[in-house]
Amino acid sequence: MNIFEAYNSTKKALQKAGIEDYVFEAKQIIKHITGFSSSEILMNYTNALTEYQSNNLTAIIRQRELRYPLQYIFGEWSFYGRDFYVGPGVLVPRADTETVIEVCLDYLKDKKEPKILDLCAGSGCIGITLAKEIKDSTCLMAEKFPEAMRYAEKNILRNKAENARVIAGDIFEGAGNEDKYDLIVSNPPYIPEKDTETVSPETKYEPHTALYSSTDGLEFYRAITENYKGSLKQNGMLCYEVGIGQANAVKEILKTAGFADIGTKKDLNGIERAVYANLK
Ligand SMILES: C[S@@+](CC[C@H](N)C(=O)[O-])C[C@H]1O[C@@H](n2cnc3c(N)ncnc32)[C@H](O)[C@@H]1O
Repeated sequence: MNIFEAYNSTKKALQKAGIEDYVFEAKQIIKHITGFSSSEILMNYTNALTEYQSNNLTAIIRQRELRYPLQYIFGEWSFYGRDFYVGPGVLVPRADTETVIEVCLDYLKDKKEPKILDLCAGSGCIGITLAKEIKDSTCLMAEKFPEAMRYAEKNILRNKAENARVIAGDIFEGAGNEDKYDLIVSNPPYIPEKDTETVSPETKYEPHTALYSSTDGLEFYRAITENYKGSLKQNGMLCYEVGIGQANAVKEILKTAGFADIGTKKDLNGIERAVYANLK
């Protein structure tokens, strides 16, 4: 089987398995098994796959037919232009979360040596990205679960983010709140427990503890707002990623806690994805 035939049969198999982005995924898989870039694939599409590549392709298709996440199969995924290790035990960085990065970078652009706290850090994609983008910043990340924290540690090294570090800690116990920060950012678990069945088949392989929060999904926003209000510098910003339809409720939590200049930013699908506010 040559590369072109492999690409076509992969597309067909993924489409049959009900995978929406089957064209994109088939291309990613061919790049992964051949080690070729997009242009190299175009120049070499009549090359025959080696036996090893062909076996690898069959194994990947089998896993995707079971809807095991492509990102876990590859063991890495790109976020805001950088590569992060991912795998069982950690949430895969989502493109939606880049909306939060944009809000934070806009806020940080005029700050000198800003101090950042990233709560519920997971792979570290938020904290590491901010630390890399704002060279004179220092970023502390807190993550409760050791399986997830190990990915953040590896991703700090992979991305050479010397100004970022991660600690084990629970936001309900105020992990990291003994200092004062210019920016506190969090993408906490926010899917209401009752919605377990509405998530994609791939999401079922991701850790429950990274995704779900109480019956209304707002427990982490209430706790972080309350436990970390005292850890913001004057005019400091608190920025959250929120789930679909949660923006108004989170704005209300911030307003009740005394925050000002509350705003939101939509993601590329037009969904209010980031909610932010300042503490005067
Ligand atoms: C939605 S994921 C976000 C991960 C990463 N920040 C991102 O944007 O991809 C939430 C993370 O919060 C962590 N977590 C859950 N409960 C926590 C708690 N009580 N304290 C600290 N972290 C917690 C989970 O392990 C998970 O890594």
